[in-house]
Amino acid sequence: MITLGIEGTAHTLGVGIVDSERKVLANVIDMYRPPQGGLHPREAANHHADVVAADIQKAVAQAGISLHDVDLVSFSMGPGLGPCLRVAGTAARALAGALDIPIMGVNHCIAHIEIGNATTGCTDPVLLYASGGNTQIIAYADERYRIFGETHDVGIGNMLDKLGRDLGLGFYAGPTIEKLAKGGDKLLELPYSVKGMDVAFSGILTAAMMFKEKGARIEDIAYSVQEIAFAMLTEVTERAMAHVGKSEVLLGGGVAQNTRLREMVAEMAKERGGKMFVPDRHYCMDNGAMIAWLGNLMYNSGVRMAISDTEVRQRFRTDEVPVTWRD
Ligand code: ATP
Ligand code: FE2
Repeated sequence: MITLGIEGTAHTLGVGIVDSERKVLANVIDMYRPPQGGLHPREAANHHADVVAADIQKAVAQAGISLHDVDLVSFSMGPGLGPCLRVAGTAARALAGALDIPIMGVNHCIAHIEIGNATTGCTDPVLLYASGGNTQIIAYADERYRIFGETHDVGIGNMLDKLGRDLGLGFYAGPTIEKLAKGGDKLLELPYSVKGMDVAFSGILTAAMMFKEKGARIEDIAYSVQEIAFAMLTEVTERAMAHVGKSEVLLGGGVAQNTRLREMVAEMAKERGGKMFVPDRHYCMDNGAMIAWLGNLMYNSGVRMAISDTEVRQRFRTDEVPVTWRD
């Protein structure tokens, strides 16, 4: 069975094609970069609407198939930005209608987990999902993917991007902050904010800017923000692993590309006698292959959706989806 998946929760429009044997035939990733400032949902959605048809064609060509070989269309139903989600949804509905094939709306966060499971060889991990808009610690229990901890305010990537903007580093600042951090060595006193199993990042942002005003080196700010924020994530992830008795940890989301975060989580996992898994870069960031793969899993486990079930859901929670495809 061939599934075409369309991702469009935020700044990335992605089209992926997979078969039922975990083979990714195509994964076209088309990211919108605002000319200046932050991401405006309407502008990102316009970008997605402009490119989606061409990206579908590109993916089909990359896969070496014809559009008529596609058996199922899936798309990211949420969570995400309304205007962006609606573009992906509309494209998926149009494609399913034109080809007269079934459609599947999938949860974006669960797609991050399942592509990790499929491509890294882990089987029952705790997922640390750290992206721009999302920061969640998720694990499977009792037929659901449950959220054990999450951010109380912004996603970690959004915090890094906002810090980058305030420091004049441009949008999508995660990689730039990572580079700068390598030149830092002084740990500034930023708020370490873990409450129960949840985290909060906005205090770090405020404090970091205060240090900037007081003349701190930008490298030390980047270094300290990474050390503190990643330590918070590692702590909560470790507690979730202990709580549910799992030894595997899977990273997902754009921030999972960060080498320092990987180092800290890998060390924690090793100390617990466990192991960390990180998907390939193209499966960490938002992408269509993961959407296609989850659509494939759901369909093959018997899930069916009518067009009327495919309305987008900006606040679609991970634990709302019955997990029908695991033993
Ligand atoms: P979602 O819709 O799941 O919230 P997203 O739209 O934020 O995802 P992703 O591609 O998953 O998209 O993640 C992008 C985020 O990852 C940005 O905030 C970016 O700054 C951050 N990021 C990318 N590379 C790195 C890195 N090396 N270190 C830290 N952060 C990074
Ligand atoms: Fe994501």
